[in-house]
Amino acid sequence: MGNKHPERPARNAGNTPERGRFITLEGSEGVGKSTNLARVVAWLEARGLEVVQTREPGGTPRAEAIRRLLLDPDEPEPLDDDAELLLVFAARAQHLARVIRPALERGAWVVCDRFTDATFAYQGGGRGLNSARITELEAFVQQGLAPDLTLLLDMPMGAAQQRLEQRGERRDRFEQERAEFFESVRQAYLARAAQAPERITIIDASLTREAVGEQIEAVLEARVTAWRS
Ligand code: TMP
Repeated sequence: MGNKHPERPARNAGNTPERGRFITLEGSEGVGKSTNLARVVAWLEARGLEVVQTREPGGTPRAEAIRRLLLDPDEPEPLDDDAELLLVFAARAQHLARVIRPALERGAWVVCDRFTDATFAYQGGGRGLNSARITELEAFVQQGLAPDLTLLLDMPMGAAQQRLEQRGERRDRFEQERAEFFESVRQAYLARAAQAPERITIIDASLTREAVGEQIEAVLEARVTAWRS
């Protein structure tokens, strides 16, 4: 494949801005992603960085339309697992082209609620699809672009399910899955973290809100300071 998107331009060569950093948050349902995403964004903004906050599947109008197709619990026609996988990557291609790459290229930092680790966890772990196929699609769609840092919010499945129940909201197509599905999702996330420990940091999400926030801020402090020095 051609090098259509050089990912790491030389530092401040001429007038080219230094590429921004790409941070993702991952975890199963009910682990507190939204609260902590807001925390990451606020932490970076407080240090004067331009931050683009976004999510997957979604992040652009067309990608959000694909999200609705993926999550709609009322559509009676079952969604084929391969079709689900391709829809996830179709939304990702649009999101990368329209939002993520342009933001990083102009020097903004991107904080994204889920990215391809979620595909390995949900379509790979949850649905049982072959991870080699996911890796092929990842290479095709991302052309070498990957997050610089991923915070994986992890907690035992039972506790996460309890939190989901307490929310009391109507469940989407994924949230309606059985307990075994979520256990497979969790294990696939942990396996991914074991394969890429330099990129994926596991955060113990079973602790109090404050303690989780402190863990995240400590990781940001260490990583961001190193990147900016
Ligand atoms: P969320 O915005 O509440 O996290 O919901 C998005 C849902 O989409 C969540 O259940 C996980 C699922 N998902 C996948 O199955 N594969 C993916 O690649 C992504 C990004 C999300």
